[in-house]
Amino acid sequence: MNKFLLILLLLGFFSLVIFQGVDEVLAAQAVMCMVCENFKRGNCLTGKGNCTVEYGFGCRTRNFFLFNQRNKWVHNHTELDCYSHCSPNHMYLGHLKISSQCCKDKDFCNKYQGILPKTRLN
Ligand SMILES: *[C@@H]1O[C@H](CO)[C@@H](O)[C@H](O)[C@H]1NC(C)=O
Ligand SMILES: *[C@@H]1O[C@H](CO)[C@@H](O)[C@H](O)[C@H]1NC(C)=O
Repeated sequence: MNKFLLILLLLGFFSLVIFQGVDEVLAAQAVMCMVCENFKRGNCLTGKGNCTVEYGFGCRTRNFFLFNQRNKWVHNHTELDCYSHCSPNHMYLGHLKISSQCCKDKDFCNKYQGILPKTRLN
């Protein structure tokens, strides 16, 4: 066999190995999250789907609370999605409180954070 051909074959073989390695690393990093517009008591009522997160992204869980007449924050609904630069926080918009949590440790991890007691959250 021609030396040149042999080198080409070897190059092709090694690039295949390298790219497969990269694919495996990416697959290991990617986490699938649940998407839901209205998530209640562990079930998605509307807008169900999924999304994939990679570097810097997280599976996001946003719990929406409403301030009721008895001066308590009551859980209204939960939304699930993927979000870049996801960080846990509480946001107050008048009588609405949005409490965000993030995870990327396992597939669909954000659906486990949506189950909260109906009582108020500090
Ligand atoms: C993710 O969503 C797609 C459609 O949006 C669906 O075909 C697929 O089965 C879903 N995957 C999982 C694991 O739920
Ligand atoms: C409360 O939840 C319902 C769905 O159960 C939703 O339609 C409504 O927009 C939510 N209210 C707020 C203020 O987010």
